[in-house]
Amino acid sequence: MRNPENREFVRLHDRTFRVMIPAERIDEAVTAVAARLNADYAERPVPLFIGVLNGAFMFLSDLMKKLEFDCELSFVKLASYSGTSSTGKVKSLIGLNGSIEGRHVVIVEDIVDTGESIEHMVRELEGLRPASIAVCTLFFKPGSYSRQVPIDYRALEIGNEFIVGYGLDYDQLGRNLKDVYVVTGEGQA
Ligand code: IMP
Ligand code: MG
Repeated sequence: MRNPENREFVRLHDRTFRVMIPAERIDEAVTAVAARLNADYAERPVPLFIGVLNGAFMFLSDLMKKLEFDCELSFVKLASYSGTSSTGKVKSLIGLNGSIEGRHVVIVEDIVDTGESIEHMVRELEGLRPASIAVCTLFFKPGSYSRQVPIDYRALEIGNEFIVGYGLDYDQLGRNLKDVYVVTGEGQA
């Protein structure tokens, strides 16, 4: 529920969130990352941007408008399903139709936290023999990241706090917020 008089706080489910990064600051960070991509990819064969749903949709939409070279776009999702074997939960990559063999791929994520998801994604895509893989994330939590996969492009670095907005959700709510909010200590009101 939103109070149009007060953009500083939002309430989602049982939590209160406070504005942490206003839309203008996000836009500056997206512009800076786009400038790096423009420099790095201008001379390469047409790269393929692969957005990870759902969280990356807003970032990738704004990012692509700032890219000045020819590029292609695809979206994927890491879907959990219960395996039939004792391995239990398995995550599979869905949504890629068409070969990425020999292509320059840029994976676009909303946030890299521990790195478990992005590592899984990179391993899956490596098996499809692209020419190169780069990772571009809107948010990066350096204090939480514990994997070896290089995170090449990081628009904004944050602490270990939980954030929502600009594509990121708290139990599916908050993706439509244009600013990014951080959870406050307040629980049930
Ligand atoms: P990781 O596998 O630990 O790097 O984090 C994977 C996923 O957790 C991200 O793709 C997000 O969906 C979610 N996540 C991690 N931190 C946050 C946060 O602060 N806000 C919203 N979602 C988050
Ligand atoms: Mg995600």
